[in-house]
Amino acid sequence: MKHVTLDITNILSKTIGDEGLDWALLLSVAAKVEEFKKTVYNNTPFPFMDFNLLRSHLKDIYKVGESIKGLNIKNLILLGIGGSSLGTETIFHALLDPLHNMERNKIGNAPRYFILDNIDPHRIKRIAELVKKENEETLLVVISKSGETPETMSQFMVFKDILSTGKDYKKRIVIITDKNKGMLREIVKKEGYLSLPVPEGIGGRFSVLTPVGMFPAWIMGIDVKEILNGAQSMSEHIENSDYKKNLAVIIASILYAMDKKGKIMHVMMPYCERLNAFADWFRQLEAESLGKKGRGPTPLKSIGVTDQHSQLQLYIDGPKDKFITFLFCVNDSQPIPESIPYLEGLDYLAGKDMKELFRAEFLGTRRSLTEAKTPNITITLDEINPFNIGALFFLYEMVITFMGFLYELNAFDQPAVELGKIYTKAIMGKKGLEEKRQIIEQELTKERYIIEF
Ligand code: PA5
Repeated sequence: MKHVTLDITNILSKTIGDEGLDWALLLSVAAKVEEFKKTVYNNTPFPFMDFNLLRSHLKDIYKVGESIKGLNIKNLILLGIGGSSLGTETIFHALLDPLHNMERNKIGNAPRYFILDNIDPHRIKRIAELVKKENEETLLVVISKSGETPETMSQFMVFKDILSTGKDYKKRIVIITDKNKGMLREIVKKEGYLSLPVPEGIGGRFSVLTPVGMFPAWIMGIDVKEILNGAQSMSEHIENSDYKKNLAVIIASILYAMDKKGKIMHVMMPYCERLNAFADWFRQLEAESLGKKGRGPTPLKSIGVTDQHSQLQLYIDGPKDKFITFLFCVNDSQPIPESIPYLEGLDYLAGKDMKELFRAEFLGTRRSLTEAKTPNITITLDEINPFNIGALFFLYEMVITFMGFLYELNAFDQPAVELGKIYTKAIMGKKGLEEKRQIIEQELTKERYIIEF
């Protein structure tokens, strides 16, 4: 079996009639993408596509990593939000053992990990207590491209304060941020922490293959070279394959054409526990890159089989505005024991394997959606391994880049997120934002429509 296989049968009009796409129409969109692709690869590749650059960071990652190796690190605390943490979360979820944090000593000696991508004090305060107890066995990795994000900066202040009471604490703080700009860089220069760069021109959600994702992965003993090999191999496929057989060109064209056809809800539904976090990573990539100027599909995440008992009714019988991407990969095995003697009703499960049931549920769900004329594609991975995870990351980075072209949008900025950030800083009393603070204060003192229990 190939590493990645795409099945698009269930989006074609010959399968689902009017709700589907005409092959000729799909190819006309794909032909446009193909032209754009050639320009990108021949003239102006985006920095996230530059494998010389991505590989050049490996030696820095090893160097910083080696300096930490002898320190008996038991806890990795990772601070970051959005593109600064979702890629790492995806890699860990896909490639580490599900019981890693409980059984780390049996599995290898990689630390337990805690990814803090929120600032609700409920969790932060508990982890802060843990770090107080295990200060000298804790490594803090702080990731922020801008080096200014209030969530990450406040977390940094909390954890640095704790760590700084421990011996040699500067050896246990690694900061990954822009090479030259931002407050975190200033802090690195002034206080002398270990640090790695987020390269110029690569935004948060496109940065998983830079030190942003590769350093934490290396710390956990994951083969980061193989992740890059997979990504580069996918890049070669995208650059060299004919557009009719090109994964990124065809997926981007389908997603765009489906949205234009009114399938404005794009559901990613992994039937593969280890890809659940990938769906979160992709949800951010699609939303923040394409949700602009009134355009862009709404990405949704659903989990197979869990959400068959939560969302499927809606996908089959609700509004005809959904398009589904299934991700499928099941290799593990868990036998189901022989039947319960007094219950004939369970015979169909007896002596089988959970893997067979998982596959049957996937096929059954897909069939029921197809019969309901809900368009769907399936991406099957032969295995979950570093190579394939790298390939999948790169595939979708290119899909979104191509979709940006089709929507005539800049996929790499996020202007609409800025206003909320400005208001937050204003409320917290940042100088120069007094006017914004007043707007909020006036809003809160106005008469409000409130219902109480
Ligand atoms: O994808 C993006 O650009 C964003 O999601 C950022 O990653 C997120 O806002 C965090 O920004 P920063 O890395 O500057 O702290």
